[in-house]
Amino acid sequence: MPKLKVVTFGCQANELDSARIAGILAREGYTLTEDEAEADLVILNGCSIREKAEQKLFSRLGTLQALKAENPRLRLGVAGCLAQREGETLLRRFPYLDFVVGNGEHLAEIPQLLSIAPGRPAVAASEPVGLFPEDADIHRHSRIRAWVGIMEGCDNFCTFCVVPFTRGRERSRYPDDILHEVVRLRGAGYREITLLGQTVNSYGKKLDPPVPFAELLRRINVAVGPAMRVRFTTSYPPDVTPALAEAMAALPSVCEHIHLPVQTGSTRTLAHMKRTYTREDYLEKVAMLRAAVPDLAITTDIIVGFPGETDVDFAETLSLMEEVGFDGCFAFKFSPRSGTPAVDLPDQAPEPVKAARLSRVLELQRALSLQRNRAVVGRVVEVLVDRGLSKRDSGLAAGRTRQNKIVHFQGGELEEGQLVNVEITEATSHHLKGVLIASS
Ligand code: SAH
Ligand code: SF4
Ligand code: F3S
Repeated sequence: MPKLKVVTFGCQANELDSARIAGILAREGYTLTEDEAEADLVILNGCSIREKAEQKLFSRLGTLQALKAENPRLRLGVAGCLAQREGETLLRRFPYLDFVVGNGEHLAEIPQLLSIAPGRPAVAASEPVGLFPEDADIHRHSRIRAWVGIMEGCDNFCTFCVVPFTRGRERSRYPDDILHEVVRLRGAGYREITLLGQTVNSYGKKLDPPVPFAELLRRINVAVGPAMRVRFTTSYPPDVTPALAEAMAALPSVCEHIHLPVQTGSTRTLAHMKRTYTREDYLEKVAMLRAAVPDLAITTDIIVGFPGETDVDFAETLSLMEEVGFDGCFAFKFSPRSGTPAVDLPDQAPEPVKAARLSRVLELQRALSLQRNRAVVGRVVEVLVDRGLSKRDSGLAAGRTRQNKIVHFQGGELEEGQLVNVEITEATSHHLKGVLIASS
């Protein structure tokens, strides 16, 4: 049987696509391997969000070229957002590639691309307009947690971002198809699903008739019952509605966590980014969510060193972080991407300024996370076990709270996928520690 290795370079959507690629190729007889040396086919599933992500893939290609020189049977493909963005130019730059395949419906074209005789590199990377085919298999790693794609693409065109160019226009899956998948996952023993979309809460606007995201959550909640946790990511602040806040408050399966990228605390910089909201708008959304869901954890993304960001703008990012008290934050140095408007904006920040601001953000976030985590000490929380403990194991079990906080805890023999109650006894900025008090 031929062997396949898929390497994921990007976000959760990219990881889900890797699982889809593995599912498509399993039907063609491929089994997965971790070892490049024994693979017949290696697919690098690329990401273009920042320059570093692209560079990682390019350097990996260098290693694979050497491997291919030793093993001429090896076939190499590049997929994902990077393939979508670069298309043909990848074949010119890396002539030893066998194929380049973009996002969305293109994934299903991989078997066809492979059937084209070796030595005739092929490309399928026109702008994706469809979704992944409903009848295709998804080869998931975890047996308890699953990503579920509900929408693709983005129409927002933030001035720094490649996603609208790599994933095409915003389009949503039919609710019945989603419900069908979710019910199947529950039947297969999954305990947690995370609904995925580049702007997940913009779901359903273009469906006929439109289905608001809050309505989809309600239907999913009914379909999965209380035995399953439901998460969603990534949310776009302007599309956080009172209906979403109410749904999060009312639906027992929906976890008390939202990832809500703010990018910057400066209204001026937000306008340069074309984010379509102000600092005050963002704070209002946070206040509305917190009023509805008192235990809500809020995490965010921040970009530092956006063109034109002054010390005053940056100070506003820090003050917004404190004002919200984020539970966690992914922070990035602005990375100019060709083809996006931000490349041409004046006052690009020098590297040392970006580096210094990034450390300030990370340092502040460490303090905020610690503060937020300490507030949980003394409480009993529900934990979904993702690393059980065998009898001989002297270590700690691990899992996540509904707020998505990592917990390491002492306790009895546990299995992956169990829901247990843990009393939190200690907190660090990175995780919680506790003791098992009862399992259910
Ligand atoms: N759709 C999501 C974000 C998807 S991209 C949203 O709108 O919030 C994930 C994160 O990567 C973004 O939130 C942003 O913080 C970061 N990012 C995107 N483009 C970037 C760039 N050119 N440079 C640095 N960070 C970037
Ligand atoms: Fe990119 Fe998100 Fe903006 Fe869309 S909303 S352009 S995915 S940052
Ligand atoms: Fe990267 Fe594409 Fe995700 S650019 S972050 S893999 S949507």
